[in-house]
Order: sequence, then C-alpha cells, then structure tokens
Amino acid sequence: MSTEVPESAVPPPAGAGDSSPAPSRRTFIATTTAVGGAVVAGGVIGGTSLLGPDEAAAANTAPSSHLSLMVNGTRRTVLVDNRTSLLDLLREHFELTGSKKGCNAGACGACTVLVDGQRVNSCLTLAVRLEGAEVTTIEGLADGDELHPLQQAFVEQDAFQCGYCTPGQIMSGVGCIKEGHTGSPEEIREWMSGNICRCGCYVKIVRALEQTADRK
Ligand code: FES
Ligand code: FES
Repeated sequence: MSTEVPESAVPPPAGAGDSSPAPSRRTFIATTTAVGGAVVAGGVIGGTSLLGPDEAAAANTAPSSHLSLMVNGTRRTVLVDNRTSLLDLLREHFELTGSKKGCNAGACGACTVLVDGQRVNSCLTLAVRLEGAEVTTIEGLADGDELHPLQQAFVEQDAFQCGYCTPGQIMSGVGCIKEGHTGSPEEIREWMSGNICRCGCYVKIVRALEQTADRK
C-alpha cells in the first residue's frame, strides 16, 4: 500500500526561486522512470555497458526447464523459467487466476493450493520442483455444476465479504478437514492460522469448516 503525499507537503527544491523552471514532481518521476528502465533494459549506466555482449546475452537467457504436471485433472506441459513460482505458473501461464497473490511471501495464505493433496503456499513453491505432481486449485474443486461441500458451506455461512482470501481459505480448509484438525473451533483456528482474512470473517469461516467436517 502506498501513501500519497500532497503536493503542498513537498518542500520546495533547492534553488526554488531561480529563474529557471524547476521540474514538477510528475516530470521528475516520469524522467527517472524512463532513465531507470533504459538502464535496466540495457545493462548500461551513463552510456557505458557494464557487461560484454556475451555476458549481456547470458544474463537475458534465464535457465528454463520442461515441466509436465497435472492441474485440476488435465496434463499440462510447459517450458518454464526456473525461477517461476507455482502461483505465477497458474496465474500467468495457465490463466487460472482463482489463486490470489496477496503478500507473495508466504504470510497470508491467499495463494493456497493442494499439491499431491497437501496444502501449500504456491507463491513459495518453485514450479520446476513439481514434475509429475498433481495440483488442485479452486477452479478444480467443484464437480461440474456441483460445488464442493466446503464451497457450499462458505455460501451458506456467508463466510466472506470481499472474497479475496476466499479461494485460499477454501483450499486450506479442504486440507485442514482432510488432516482431521477440526476437533474444536480452537483447533480449526490454530490450523487455519496461516490464512489471513482482512475482512475479519473468521467466525463464519470456522463455522463453514465445522459444518463440512460434521457432514463428512
Ligand atoms: Fe502466498 Fe501470501 S500470496 S502466502
Ligand atoms: Fe475479504 Fe477475507 S473476505 S479478505
């Protein structure tokens, strides 16, 4: 999140009052962004390349790997940059945008999916490590038009507001129920504590898990 600083709160630059027009903040940002982009793109600072042609070419050719895995019951085979997270693979390559990018650092659980039946933070999982794995995302949970029981329980319990955390909550909840950590509301809270809801729907989320676990 960023905080906008009003123009009036920005102190005048040194030399303000000179006859030469000072660049506006917008002009300054636009100029530095453009210059910064050129530097990064070309590996060049002040017109001098820091890399030889071969080094520059090597730097622009990131190691990549062929990867074959099952996603929601469908085999997917891709050539992927070795640095790609499972979350980016799902969202950017497979256009499965149900898994959300909240913190991209393992702290919020919005990106939770199942890998071989285990819940994981997909933002912290390197895609290249998943050769042969079975991945289930929120898009693969329903059976045709029939919602998964936990999806249905979220609807019945009204366990969301903005919904941003909900795919991760549901995928984590599926794992939590499968693991058997639903003996009490306190146990559910403990084992769902990696999933943050900024809207504060925790009471209803716990109820949805209880309802689903009771009906198993
Ligand atoms: Fe993965 Fe927050 S986006 S834990
Ligand atoms: Fe809004 Fe959870 S429903 S963050």
